[in-house]
Amino acid sequence: MARRKKVYEGKAKILYEGPEPGTLVQYFKDDATAFNAQKKDVIDGKGVLNNRLSEFFMTGLTQIGVPTHFIKRLNMREQLIRSVEIIPLEVIVRNYAAGTMSQRLGLEEGTQLPRPIIEFCLKDDALGDPLVAEEHILAFGWASQQDLDDMIALALRVNDFMSGCMFAVGIKLVDFKIEIGRVWEGEFQRLIIADEISPDSCRLWDMETGQRLDKDVFRRDLGNLADAYTEVARRLGVLPSNVTHTTKPTLIN
Ligand code: TYD
Repeated sequence: MARRKKVYEGKAKILYEGPEPGTLVQYFKDDATAFNAQKKDVIDGKGVLNNRLSEFFMTGLTQIGVPTHFIKRLNMREQLIRSVEIIPLEVIVRNYAAGTMSQRLGLEEGTQLPRPIIEFCLKDDALGDPLVAEEHILAFGWASQQDLDDMIALALRVNDFMSGCMFAVGIKLVDFKIEIGRVWEGEFQRLIIADEISPDSCRLWDMETGQRLDKDVFRRDLGNLADAYTEVARRLGVLPSNVTHTTKPTLIN
């Protein structure tokens, strides 16, 4: 098979040129990183799980009218996506305090917030993805006021959808990060959900026990990361319920 052209390689994914203009192939690696890549490991099966989970969430979002870059899953590790111009901001939505918000504001992890709070971080690894205010975003032209309004509306819809999906399977959606891209349709542009939605970029706590089912398992050495992601996939019906080990997840079609 002809070698595909690699367009970009990140910490957890690789992007290749797609079969048609305006498309890309997104490949999910098993690499896990945390603390701005100071902590690294390879977690067997993580890429397979995230490919399938991201497909699940993006397909559901499309069905409720939230536009995403997802076109179709190609195989265990790859999906076909629309090529977008990524807005250089990480959009974080928080329902409960955790992580950097708890540290910054001295809030105990798990404290319910009065309403969902949206934060923006500049996508810049060298700077450690610093938190930025809307003032910075507008002044430096990273996004327009219209983009910001659209990003907030999209983020809140994703939050309601994801919170509901998780609530249905006994999981609390503490917070998550999304990335948003711009696509051009003739003279018009619109914003769509891009990148991935997976336990790598969410905080997911079991509602009963508080058990962590997300990347904090890796960040904080709380156990086997693939087991945690497999549990999320199993509860959502993405994996059959009889999977008891995770080194080679069995996928259902
Ligand atoms: P946050 O608490 O700000 O940072 P950390 O994960 O380092 O404690 O993260 C909030 C949520 O957003 C959490 O679910 C992880 C996710 N996130 C990412 O996936 N990537 C990022 O670059 C950032 C800043 C956050």
